[in-house]
Amino acid sequence: MTSAPAPSFNPGKGIGSPVGIALLGYGTVGSEVMRLMTEYADELEHRIGGPLQIRGVAVSDKSKPRPGVPDELLTDDAFSLVKRDDVDIVVEVIGGIDYPRKVVLAALKAGKSVVTANKALVAAHAAELADAADEANVDLYFEAAVAAAIPVVGPLRRSLAGDQIQSVMGIVNGTTNFILDAMDSSGAGYDESLAEATRLGYAEADPTADVEGHDAASKAAILASLAFHTRVTSDDVYCEGITNISAEDIRAAKQADHTIKLLAICEKITDSNGETAISVGVHPTLIPRSHPLAAVNKSFNAIFVEAEAAGRLMFYGNGAGGAPTASAVLGDVVGAARNKVHGGRAPGESTYANLPIADYGETPTRYHVDMEVEDRVGVLADLAQLFADRGISLRTIRQEESGEGARLIVVTHQARENSLAATVEALKDHPAVKSINSVIRLERG
Ligand code: NDP
Ligand code: HSE
Repeated sequence: MTSAPAPSFNPGKGIGSPVGIALLGYGTVGSEVMRLMTEYADELEHRIGGPLQIRGVAVSDKSKPRPGVPDELLTDDAFSLVKRDDVDIVVEVIGGIDYPRKVVLAALKAGKSVVTANKALVAAHAAELADAADEANVDLYFEAAVAAAIPVVGPLRRSLAGDQIQSVMGIVNGTTNFILDAMDSSGAGYDESLAEATRLGYAEADPTADVEGHDAASKAAILASLAFHTRVTSDDVYCEGITNISAEDIRAAKQADHTIKLLAICEKITDSNGETAISVGVHPTLIPRSHPLAAVNKSFNAIFVEAEAAGRLMFYGNGAGGAPTASAVLGDVVGAARNKVHGGRAPGESTYANLPIADYGETPTRYHVDMEVEDRVGVLADLAQLFADRGISLRTIRQEESGEGARLIVVTHQARENSLAATVEALKDHPAVKSINSVIRLERG
């Protein structure tokens, strides 16, 4: 006779029991988590049913001054801290992938619930982390990993669990929105805007992750996984950042009553075989100034969710920064702590749909192509033919004088990404095209 499996129900520590917290990281987010946890300790105790007690704070350099943190709490040995018997919940706000992956797995395996703000980690290793949490029957929460203070992970996981989500789209990176907004509204330069976003604590430790679009791609992977009940990792996301967006692109967009935003777009599409697949991409996008996303300024984020029964929902708020992120982290800590005190655990992930991830070339989109061409009879017709040959119809063509030649700005109707990209390659080789100034996708509206 085989022995019965261990009971999977967590009975809870009982009302009034303390809940031990290991805080990993004391930077922009970690210091705010500790401040809020300390300042609102009484309130949090009422909401949880037992007091939160910080058992230790792991940092990389113990010698740095940390006003307000008792010396005895500081450690540079996160592995030992997460395994302590008096730790119930581990809060990971270190950043990076390899090191936090090992510590978080060690924590889960030791039976600790984990709250993390680390989108890079979750987007790269969600399956492994979710399996470890399931095996240990503990919680794994990551609300702060997407759009900081904005509750969007919870609504996708719980509130919309009965609906059919068609698309999730929006601005999910505060740093790049701050830079694009500053370039658009005050004409500030790219470098000075990035330096300011870093000073304000919005940018990642390595801001390349922000400006190259990788941070938004990680968030897009998390959103798509939750929305479509399918495992989507950062490697599945088409990714283009804002490093090629010039002051001239911003000026030209403004002249045409548009603005440029870095959008994450997750949607169900019908691929060329007629199958339903998931398309997930991050790229700069031209949007009309009348569009609600055009008004999302500074480091704010906004996310549209379109669901069959709920219709269109918009989530808006602070997308980066210490206190907004700490708010989301603490919300998760309260949820995990309640489960430690009262018993049970939050439902795990659902990836049953297992939809295929489409090649991004299959995605329908629209292009805005800005190029310098020779100013002679027949050029316009030749170039329009190049688009027509690939089945792409043109929505508008604008021609302006430009030195010896002409500047041509073409806006296409919707077509598959790979046909549009192939047309741009053909334009580059055409003898009448002197240079391509920019190629930017347009919001499909
Ligand atoms: P910071 O760089 O400000 O802080 C990182 C902290 O981790 C520092 O305290 C650092 O120690 C500590 N640390 C680094 N290596 C180790 C190690 N090996 N062991 C223990 N501690 C270590 O990062 P943020 O607070 O900005 O970001 C933290 C996480 O939150 C990241 O995953 C980020 O993506 C995410 N996040 C950040 C947001 C933001 O607006 N900043 C918003 C949403 C999510 P030391 O102090 O000694 O250097
Ligand atoms: N670096 C990130 C951003 C932090 O700028 O959006 C919030 O996830």
